[in-house]
Amino acid sequence: MAPNIVLLPGDGIGPEIVESARRVLDAVGSFEYERYLVGGASIDANGTALTDEVLDACRAADAVLLGAVGGPKWDTTDPDAPRPEQGLLGLRKGLGLFANLRPVKPSPALVDASPLRPEVIAGTDLLVVRELTGGIYFGDRGREGDRAFDTCVYTVAEVERIARVGFEAAQRRRGRVTSVDKANVIETSRLWRQTVSELAGGYGDVDLDHMLVDNAAMQLVSDPARFDVILTENMFGDILSDESAMLTGSLGMLPSASLGDGGPGVFEPVHGSAPDIAGSGAANPLATVLSAAMLLRDGLGMADEAATIEAAVDAVLASGLRTADLASGADGERQVGTAEVTEALLAALASGGEPPAPE
Ligand code: NAD
Ligand code: IPM
Ligand code: MN
Repeated sequence: MAPNIVLLPGDGIGPEIVESARRVLDAVGSFEYERYLVGGASIDANGTALTDEVLDACRAADAVLLGAVGGPKWDTTDPDAPRPEQGLLGLRKGLGLFANLRPVKPSPALVDASPLRPEVIAGTDLLVVRELTGGIYFGDRGREGDRAFDTCVYTVAEVERIARVGFEAAQRRRGRVTSVDKANVIETSRLWRQTVSELAGGYGDVDLDHMLVDNAAMQLVSDPARFDVILTENMFGDILSDESAMLTGSLGMLPSASLGDGGPGVFEPVHGSAPDIAGSGAANPLATVLSAAMLLRDGLGMADEAATIEAAVDAVLASGLRTADLASGADGERQVGTAEVTEALLAALASGGEPPAPE
């Protein structure tokens, strides 16, 4: 039976990039799809960013591919109004997706696309392991008159289960975990550091070091090759992963996998709905295409097909095609839109991974 993939295109550029990734998936395998609304699109249709029907469909799927949610239409400072982002958070919590994997490995063809110097980027190959269902994102919050509060909570069990993911990823990679926290100030970070340190004893083949998050933000753009696995809590991982994206040239390049304990994972680009370019046909679909590759490898156990897609992405970039976010003005570049990049990927896949012929 063909695997069942739930597509949640969402808002802004979401529908454009999910459609591109779906076409790429169809070029490497046979899949059944179901499509549902999430985020702002679901607020407009149903008054809520995630319905029970959609959550149930995701639970029953083999994997979920999500575009992005949010946009100015639904931006509000009213704490009682629904927000698109609640759909994403509800999905992560509802499916128990506590582990968010965000690999950062610049394509060799893209060294010129980053604002950072090539010698700074050289050797970058890191994985952000972000805790995804705890911390300040899910603690008590509220308003009391002219006062507002958010609470950051972590339990030992929550830290242990994400730390295990980090240590095990390091065992498959270069054997190094950098645990990032703010243990000089924050109590949850002290619990985090203590718990990770205690767990490290069970992973004798992994080197662990601890780094404060402000220093980590700086090291990421000065010496990124020093990192293998960055293990960190929900909000720090959110911020550091957008920063890391620029090592690859663009936020439009960074994929992710959100995984739990055995159920279906959600695979989605790290970026948002890019309202500034939505509908213009300019969106870079590659973060979503690479998320589809992660869906195949981590969600469906189709590692060969995943590698085929990743090779096609490298081949298309090597041929000089660039969406606007990646354009550097270098010789041999040709600026194109979402549709042309998708066609080039399909052509590369049809010809067994050969780069498309220059025009
Ligand atoms: P964003 O990631 O949407 O965009 C940041 C910048 O990067 C913009 O200039 C955008 O044009 C560019 N960009 C992002 N993805 C791109 C792509 N694939 N191709 C080319 N350029 C791309 O962040 P934002 O503007 O801060 O947020 C917009 C909305 O998206 C907000 O409502 C936010 O909450 C939401 N958001 C959703 C997700 C998600 O669904 N996973 C993630 C982040 C932000
Ligand atoms: C991300 C996004 C989300 C997050 C938002 C939209 C809730 O920024 O996936 O990185 O903060 O986790
Ligand atoms: Mn983010």
